[in-house]
Amino acid sequence: MLVSPKILLEKAQKEKYAVGAFNTCNLEITKAIFAAAENLNSPIIIQTSEGESQHGQITKIATLIRKFIEESKIPACLNLDHGKSLEMVKKCITAGYAQVMIDGSKLPFSENIALTKKVVQYAHKYNVPVEGELGLVPTPGQKEIVSEKEREKAMTDPNLALDFVKKTEVDFLAVAIGNVHGFYKGKPVLDFNRLGEIKKKVKIPLVLHGGSGIADCDIKKAISLGICKINVNTELRVAFTNALRQILKDQKQHIPYEYMKTVEQAVQKVVEEKIKVFSK
Ligand code: G3H
Ligand code: ZN
Repeated sequence: MLVSPKILLEKAQKEKYAVGAFNTCNLEITKAIFAAAENLNSPIIIQTSEGESQHGQITKIATLIRKFIEESKIPACLNLDHGKSLEMVKKCITAGYAQVMIDGSKLPFSENIALTKKVVQYAHKYNVPVEGELGLVPTPGQKEIVSEKEREKAMTDPNLALDFVKKTEVDFLAVAIGNVHGFYKGKPVLDFNRLGEIKKKVKIPLVLHGGSGIADCDIKKAISLGICKINVNTELRVAFTNALRQILKDQKQHIPYEYMKTVEQAVQKVVEEKIKVFSK
């Protein structure tokens, strides 16, 4: 059942839990995400990054996911994850995405504001809420942040966060508090003081990217400090790939709709584990 992301996240914010936002790029991962959410009777956000949207040819994957949402009893909506341009946002809104993220986090502050504001002005005409990002959540392999000083510099500044939200009128804010996309090299260290400071200034729902590899107790603490949407992708991709690799070792397997069941179950298991941690 389609439920507005604003309603989903404002309820989560009020009741102090987080909605899992899970990435998909195909039928099997989509099936697994819905199976997990339905099993646990939990709301979810299902999302595609720019690359995943393009792989699914945007309107085709959007139509598929929207059908799952429409036929499911659990509250759900489709989000564009890490949109990089107004053009991409326009395409996704036309294809029926209920929420969009514009990621201007690599841009200088004023340019991030300008791009995000432009997207908000466009998306709000269609009643589509927008997630913005301030501070950089690094992606290994793209830009490694090595020194402590650089790590600090990349994190969300609470005062700038307030300014960013006021000027752009975004509906949700993704923060950088030591979280990283993909698996961490060492133990992830989240800056909870910073998150607390951001929360004091910013009243809209806060989003934690890089949900893979964070310890359950840190997830719980982040939720208690105001995080109400948590993005998870890498752990699903790894579960999918490892299960498939294992199956294909057996040369007798050649009927995709048979062996894909095992792959779906592997992804479903990860999604269920995450939902349980994110719930109250
Ligand atoms: O936007 C997607 C997420 O931030 C996923 O991060 O791949 O580390 O789980 P992850
Ligand atoms: Zn992300």
